[in-house]
Amino acid sequence: MKETEVTSAPDLKEARKRGRLASRSQRVADISPSPFLLTWGAGKHYYIETFGCQMNVRDSEIIQGFLERIGMTPTSDASKADFALFNTCAIRENAEDHLWGELGHMKQYAQARPGMIVAVCGCMMQLEVPFRIVRERYPFVNLVFGTNNVDAIYPLLEDCIKSRHRVLNVVSNPGAILEGLPSKRMEPHRAFVNITYGCDKFCTYCIVPFTRGMQRSRRHEEVIAEVRDLVRHGYKEVTLLGQNVSSYGADLEDNPDFAGLLREVSDTGIARIRFMTSHPHDFTDEVFDVMAERPNVMPYLHLPIQSGSDHVLKLMNRSYDMAKYMHLVDLVKAKVPDIALTTDIIVGFPGETEEDFQQTLKAVRDCQYDSCFTFIFSPRPGTPAYKMKNNASPEEIQDRFNRLVELTESITAERAQRMVGKTVEVLFLYPSRKDKTMMSGYDPYQHLVHVKGDESLAGQIRRVKITASHAHSFLGELADE
Ligand code: 5AD
Ligand code: SF4
Repeated sequence: MKETEVTSAPDLKEARKRGRLASRSQRVADISPSPFLLTWGAGKHYYIETFGCQMNVRDSEIIQGFLERIGMTPTSDASKADFALFNTCAIRENAEDHLWGELGHMKQYAQARPGMIVAVCGCMMQLEVPFRIVRERYPFVNLVFGTNNVDAIYPLLEDCIKSRHRVLNVVSNPGAILEGLPSKRMEPHRAFVNITYGCDKFCTYCIVPFTRGMQRSRRHEEVIAEVRDLVRHGYKEVTLLGQNVSSYGADLEDNPDFAGLLREVSDTGIARIRFMTSHPHDFTDEVFDVMAERPNVMPYLHLPIQSGSDHVLKLMNRSYDMAKYMHLVDLVKAKVPDIALTTDIIVGFPGETEEDFQQTLKAVRDCQYDSCFTFIFSPRPGTPAYKMKNNASPEEIQDRFNRLVELTESITAERAQRMVGKTVEVLFLYPSRKDKTMMSGYDPYQHLVHVKGDESLAGQIRRVKITASHAHSFLGELADE
């Protein structure tokens, strides 16, 4: 077996720490690869599989940027890769199970290709138990890093190749934001732009404050410069990303806020702006004013409710109650009448009774969400809820989940039906996966719309009349001829 160099391992106590950083962001001066890596990378192929949220997608774009700078090109066939990377998610146990399944396949590929680098990074590697499992049970994984040291990929890779050791290096303290890292974006018309990293909320079920560290906001000049650059390159849409975009700027000295940032991003003239995820506690009404005033801020709001019961919200440490949540929903519907509202809901949180659950069902009926992301509570080691006692049986929880899904799906279908006959603007992106004679894109409400057409439509925003609804997608025809 190969020697293992554990230069740094995850430490949850360290990850829990919150403090002041001397500098929140710094421009990276020199990220040129060494001549050694340039020679190694030339003509070689990388394979990246990304699990989890948009944060991970964006990190994978940065990693691709680094790899392409040393002459590597992508492959969609893991068995032919010289460098195979799994960017992992730890949000629920089933996200973790994905990794174990994928690594199961990788073993034979790695054995067939001596010299292949099999790497694992992302949120799971920030955690002590999954890190140990990779280290002990997957000896063919020869490179591990975390969410906090993506930028160290060159020295880690070089060390791994030259030493022929396994290099495992995970940093628990996030440090300053690094600006100016390379990046190769996944899509040519829509882009993710980070505005904050990490999270200070500590919802009791959530692992993210540990895997992604304390909240750090990017300076607004950096965000605006990135959006302007995207506009110059023809991008039509940006999604401003953060675990909690509503508290953007709270950690910066001049305390800029999200509403102000949104206005500035709107001023760049980019055709479409979205943002996620909003937190009801930190949300300010002014954001609704910006949404109402600015046609390029899309009428779409993802506002996780998690539960409709004040008792459960308290146990979750969500720091708002239903009165506050409903105030926001009423206000957004008043100020942005055509708003599309979506949410996240957890079922079976420890302490949730049937009565609490009934309140969640009521909230879903009251809010009339366009779409709901529903999850069964998954205990995450290291979080406070891991140790909370759950009186409901798995069968009861599954039954609640089924009832919730039935309700949310019927509301989604009803709301979708209302779109039929309407004319909307669609940003076309790519040929439909099922029917290559159709092009797919998104309307302002984040509905997936399919229209007969060819690739010349890609990147265009066109008026489309919706002709049929399939609840989670729509058919339409071009309306501007
Ligand atoms: N179990 C189930 N769902 C979770 N989420 C976060 N942590 C957990 C967990 N431990 C859900 C929340 C969050 C979404 C991204 O994932 O609803 O908003
Ligand atoms: Fe998964 Fe959360 Fe990490 Fe995103 S931030 S990849 S959802 S654990």
